[in-house]
Order: sequence, then structure tokens, then C-alpha cells
Amino acid sequence: MAAGGTRVRTANSDRSESITMARNIDIELQVSRYSPEQDLEPHLQSYRVPIRDEWVILDALNYVKDKIDGTLTFRWSCRMGICGSCGYMINGEPKLGCATFLKDYAPGPVKIEPLRNFPIVRDLVIEISDFLEKLKKVKPWLIHEGSNGQGEYLQTPDQLEQFRQHSMCINCLLCYAACPISGLDPIFIGPAALALAHRYNKDSRDQGSAERMATLSHPDGIWGCTFVGECTRVCPKHVDPAGAIQQYKLAAAMDGMKSFLMPWGKR
Ligand code: SF4
Ligand code: FES
Repeated sequence: MAAGGTRVRTANSDRSESITMARNIDIELQVSRYSPEQDLEPHLQSYRVPIRDEWVILDALNYVKDKIDGTLTFRWSCRMGICGSCGYMINGEPKLGCATFLKDYAPGPVKIEPLRNFPIVRDLVIEISDFLEKLKKVKPWLIHEGSNGQGEYLQTPDQLEQFRQHSMCINCLLCYAACPISGLDPIFIGPAALALAHRYNKDSRDQGSAERMATLSHPDGIWGCTFVGECTRVCPKHVDPAGAIQQYKLAAAMDGMKSFLMPWGKR
């Protein structure tokens, strides 16, 4: 403090102020890189990007791609939580890149890796063909006896409410990355596919539950789930796969009981 009480700005205080500012305006991203042609395993690469209030993680990745390193590879499309293609592990948690604010990770660093429990194609891009096969197995479409594909099937709002929540899935696969069983047992059908099967079973226009039950009432289907509940916790669309699987288990158990008590009855 100088004579007369005036605060004197020194070179040192200027410097520390500018360092503080720099800390507030940029952040370190640690991004997983993997090129199958040259790497035996993934490694982290650091980039510094600006922090803007409105930026999400996807904006930061696009900044790297546009301004720093055009070789960085990642999936995205809609930027609004609809297409499901921007799922990454962000500081170890499966999240949508377009729905996760960058500023929430200040002062950083923020680690961005491909979704866990999937083979990696390149950098943040995962291989999803195994999931697509599993999805097909649960027949996620309306099965209707005698349907000729003509006309419409009427449904009341109450009937729609029975399955609406489970129809919100965007196939982002965050639930697979969070599920410990999917990590341990690669043939487990997994949360999103099971929730989708339940969605069709609960649809008043569908008659395919017995067909689906044959596939799903199996150790690799609903009985593989140990109800850890992580799938429901990370789901950005509140689909509640864990709840759907528990409801499905109950239906399967009732079915088994009926056929035991009334073996002559029609299932
Ligand atoms: S159930 Fe939720 S977390 Fe899983 S794929 Fe669908 S939207 Fe994503
Ligand atoms: S870019 Fe489509 S859900 Fe994120």
C-alpha cells in the first residue's frame, strides 16, 4: 500500500491476475486417442480449449477438430440429445457430449474417453454392431396376427401411457457403458434392448410377447440382470431400463407359475 492509502499494482500482481484469468477462460481436455494401424492401446492427448458459458463437451471437441487437430475422430449428429450418437465417458461417467456443459468441469482437466464395454474403432468411436444384433433378437417392432400392414390400430391415451416412458430410448448406449453385467458378460442382451422389448410387450397393439419371452426369459436375457440400477441412473431420457427389466421378470415368473399350475391352459 503506498502513502495516502492508494493501492499500487505491481508487475507480480498483474501476472497473477492474468494467470487467474487464463485459468478461467480455458481448460485442459485429455482426450483418448487410438489408431488401430499404429497403436497397441489407447492413450490420452491433451488440448487446451476456451471455456464459454454456452459450450457443451461436444463444442469443445469440435473446437479441437476445427482449430487444433483435424485427426480427432468422434461421432455426433443432432447436437440436441436426439440422435444418441455422442455418448462418451466424461471423467469416468457415461454422458451425452451435447448435453454436458464444459464449464461444469472447470478448472479441469476433463477426461473424455470412448464408452466403456465396447470395442474401439478409432479415438472416441465405438463398434456397435454387436448391440444392433442384440436389438434385432428382441424383435423391437409391432407383431400383430393377421396384420396386412393396412389401416391403423387405435389406442387410447391410457394405453399409450403404459409404454410411453420406455419408448423414449435414443440408443445412446450410456446404459451399456454403465452396466457391470454388460462389462462381464458380452452375451448379456443388456439394458436398452430389454427395455425396448418391454416397450413392445406393453403396447396394446402388439401380440408378440410370447415370441419375445422365448428369447428373453434366459440367463443372458432378463435373468442376467442383477438390478444394480446404474443403467437407469445414467439414462438421459429417463427410460428406466432397470425398472422395465424388473417388470419383465415379474411377467416371466407369473407366466412360469401359470404353466406349472395350469399345464393344460393356453399361454
Ligand atoms: S435406455 Fe437410456 S441410456 Fe440406454 S440406450 Fe436408451 S436412452 Fe440411452
Ligand atoms: S449429438 Fe445427437 S444426441 Fe448428442
